Amino acid sequence: MSRPPHDVGDAPAPARADDAAQAIDWDALDQAALAVRTRAHAPYSRYRVGAAILVRSGRLFTGCNVENASYGLTICAERSAIVQMVAAGERDPIALTVATSGPVLGSPCGMCRQTLAEFAVDFPIRLIAAEADGVPPRTTSLSALLPEAFGAAALSR
Ligand code: THU
Repeated sequence: MSRPPHDVGDAPAPARADDAAQAIDWDALDQAALAVRTRAHAPYSRYRVGAAILVRSGRLFTGCNVENASYGLTICAERSAIVQMVAAGERDPIALTVATSGPVLGSPCGMCRQTLAEFAVDFPIRLIAAEADGVPPRTTSLSALLPEAFGAAALSR
């Protein structure tokens, strides 16, 4: 079996959603998610999503959904942001804001949850409605959205 791009012996960071939440500038994350969402390429669903990830070093990475005429090739905003993070040499997310369309808060899809869990077992995730007035944000966490995630530890031999 070929090795994954990082050492499978490196377990994801321990759960620390609560302590990380103390220091997070959620307003900056929300603004970044809202800004990148306007650049979504979503001509088919018209459902625009923006994601902003804060990493432990303080840097911030954003992504939007990018759809394709071959629908299954669509990449979600969250995975788009993770790709940016990894490409920049960062691997330690501590918070995520997801900004979605419409009055119903959208939480990360299953594929995105698993992709996020590759880099940390838990961190707070804030869901915001980009356009709908009067929809309160909701804060959840990766461990709540993806309990008992499959991870690198299972691949240990
Ligand atoms: N989408 C995301 O960007 N993130 C999610 O977690 C769920 C869905 C996008 C994919 C597609 O472009 C549109 O939303 C409708 O599914």
